[in-house]
Amino acid sequence: MNKESVNNQIIISIKNLCKHFPVKNVWGTDVALVKALDGVDLEIESGKTFGIVGESGCGKTTLMRTLLRLVEPTSGSVVLSEEITKNQFLSNSLEELTSEELRSFRRQIGVVFQDPMGALNPRMLIKDIVSEPLVIHGKTKEIREKVISLLNNVGLGEEHMYRYPHEFSGGQRQRIVIARALALDPKILVLDEPTSALDVSVQAQILNLLNDLQKKYELTYIFISHDLSVIEYMCDRLAVMYLGKVVEEADTEELFSNPQHPYTKALLSATPNFEKHKEKIMILGDVPSPITYLDQTKAELATEITEQERLEIKTIEGKGIDYIVRSSLNEVLPLKEVGTSHYARVK
Ligand SMILES: Nc1ncnc2c1ncn2[C@@H]1O[C@H](COP(=O)(O)OP(=O)(O)O)[C@@H](O)[C@H]1O
Ligand SMILES: [Mg+2]
Repeated sequence: MNKESVNNQIIISIKNLCKHFPVKNVWGTDVALVKALDGVDLEIESGKTFGIVGESGCGKTTLMRTLLRLVEPTSGSVVLSEEITKNQFLSNSLEELTSEELRSFRRQIGVVFQDPMGALNPRMLIKDIVSEPLVIHGKTKEIREKVISLLNNVGLGEEHMYRYPHEFSGGQRQRIVIARALALDPKILVLDEPTSALDVSVQAQILNLLNDLQKKYELTYIFISHDLSVIEYMCDRLAVMYLGKVVEEADTEELFSNPQHPYTKALLSATPNFEKHKEKIMILGDVPSPITYLDQTKAELATEITEQERLEIKTIEGKGIDYIVRSSLNEVLPLKEVGTSHYARVK
């Protein structure tokens, strides 16, 4: 079958999703909000890899945790396709699922986080780690065969079953995490910085393994990374996040060849091997605080150009480098269509 006819189906739609964490003073009164996620809309296409890129603290993990309902969103919704609900749920809105339906939804999403050591219980044997989801969901029939086949899938084998996580290298541990994530035959894998803790050579092996598994099981990937070269290699489409918002979204090739938002341009210009993007753009200042003060005077103070930014502007002036002051990125413009399925928050 031709690939186009199988895909082009939306498996999950995220609509205006917000997660605001309250900041309290010592008396327990709310004084500010951390807008970790601030109105995110995304459509995830079935069988493809959707990338989410952005600096540390921009809300990537919160997006995933909210999607998995590990945290309750402040507002917004997640709409599931028939591929997930199989028409057996009473509702296709994630927030309206019964606890039984939520369990079934979670079975369909495997999760791989950055730190494989943290994800693996050091006192459990590999066979128990990989079979744990099967046991929890009562699928214990032929469990030994299933574990062996899961390990084979990720390039490990029967000989690894009776070992502990510390006996493995970082890359092998991530393979174990991937084997476990696939235990319940999920449709979607959420990969949150899956290779960030690994050496570059090992990174490539894990990325290739993920590509092979995607083909074999027609998986949909939601792939989070702060590393643009990894994102370019892995993703069909991607969203660039900044302070809880998507500032640009497009197919990978389009985004890399024709970036529109100043933040995307700056990210690309900071990546060593993108000569094709010749403009040199520097981002000045630290990542601004995602805190929004409820007190208006404090809120205004927080968006002024800082002394440090003034100094940085002085040092690069006249050196042929364009610059972006962080606080200027805080201006919120609506997402505008700037090309074929290419959106950016630009004037
Ligand atoms: N449970 C929480 N309580 C308060 N603030 C949080 C919580 N979780 C995340 N945050 C804040 O939300 C913002 C986004 O965090 P996160 O989603 O972890 O970003 P990323 O994964 O992109 O590094 C950060 O400013 C972080 O400090
Ligand atoms: Mg994170």
